[in-house]
Amino acid sequence: MQIHHTLASLRAARATAGKVALVPTMGNLHEGHITLMRQAGEEADCVIASIFVNRLQFGAGEDFDRYPRTLAADCEKLAAVGVRHVFAPDEAEMYPQPQRYHVEPAPAQVSILEGEFRPGHFRGVATVVLKLLNIVQPDIALFGKKDYQQLMVLSNMVRELALPVEVLPGDTVRAADGLALSSRNGYLSADERSRATLLYRLLSRIRDAVRTGDHDLLKLETEAMAELAAAGWEPDYVAVRRRADLQPPLHMDDPLVVLAAAKLGRTRLIDNLEI
Ligand code: PAJ
Repeated sequence: MQIHHTLASLRAARATAGKVALVPTMGNLHEGHITLMRQAGEEADCVIASIFVNRLQFGAGEDFDRYPRTLAADCEKLAAVGVRHVFAPDEAEMYPQPQRYHVEPAPAQVSILEGEFRPGHFRGVATVVLKLLNIVQPDIALFGKKDYQQLMVLSNMVRELALPVEVLPGDTVRAADGLALSSRNGYLSADERSRATLLYRLLSRIRDAVRTGDHDLLKLETEAMAELAAAGWEPDYVAVRRRADLQPPLHMDDPLVVLAAAKLGRTRLIDNLEI
């Protein structure tokens, strides 16, 4: 496995590779990321992982400075699953001057859910992912459903800008108690970690209720918000939405997804389940 810190080195390596799959990450890799790498390996001859903590997608007061940076351990995990190239640029390589050109996602898609609570977040995500796609020029790119709205924004970007890449989704990987794996889980204290499974349990309950014919979505959402608050969380949203565009459903036979975000102590967790 080769580790590239410059665009030039990565591009030279890419030029001689066959069908390439790119898996963009911010590092501190866990089994969710590694599962995406394995899936990528089944789809392409050569898997390229990128590791870059992207300042553009963090808001003021968010965790950019304390985001865990664990490149050596990450590279060991990537080598073990057959990743051929790691692209790990530093900030000066990725943003040699302040980034002045940005991808502005559709307002209807980023004024809701995560976008409402993290203004500018998806602009930063879309901008860095477009840049990574331009640098690597992969045939396919993989993103996890764990970040459901991110997957939607990036799929739409690729389609609407006619980027020559195929986006593949990866299923959410969970701990045994249901908690979705996330680099941010490492911020949780032992006590918080044992309570964190509540988010998954509430989402499961809503999924099961809707599946068995309870269509009072407002009641289901409000009850879950109240239960999170009663358990000491600070919920941002619990919402049943259409999978296609994450807007409120008009018909209950639309394919649906239930999404939630809530803070437990200092740690903000997100999760979702397709219904
Ligand atoms: P990061 O949070 O490191 O996640 C990298 C990829 O792994 C994303 O596609 C994310 O959805 C996926 N992922 C994270 N946890 C997962 C889990 N438990 N199961 C399955 N997939 C999971 O998302 C980002 O980085 C950044 O926004 C990025 C796209 C790299 C742009 O900076």
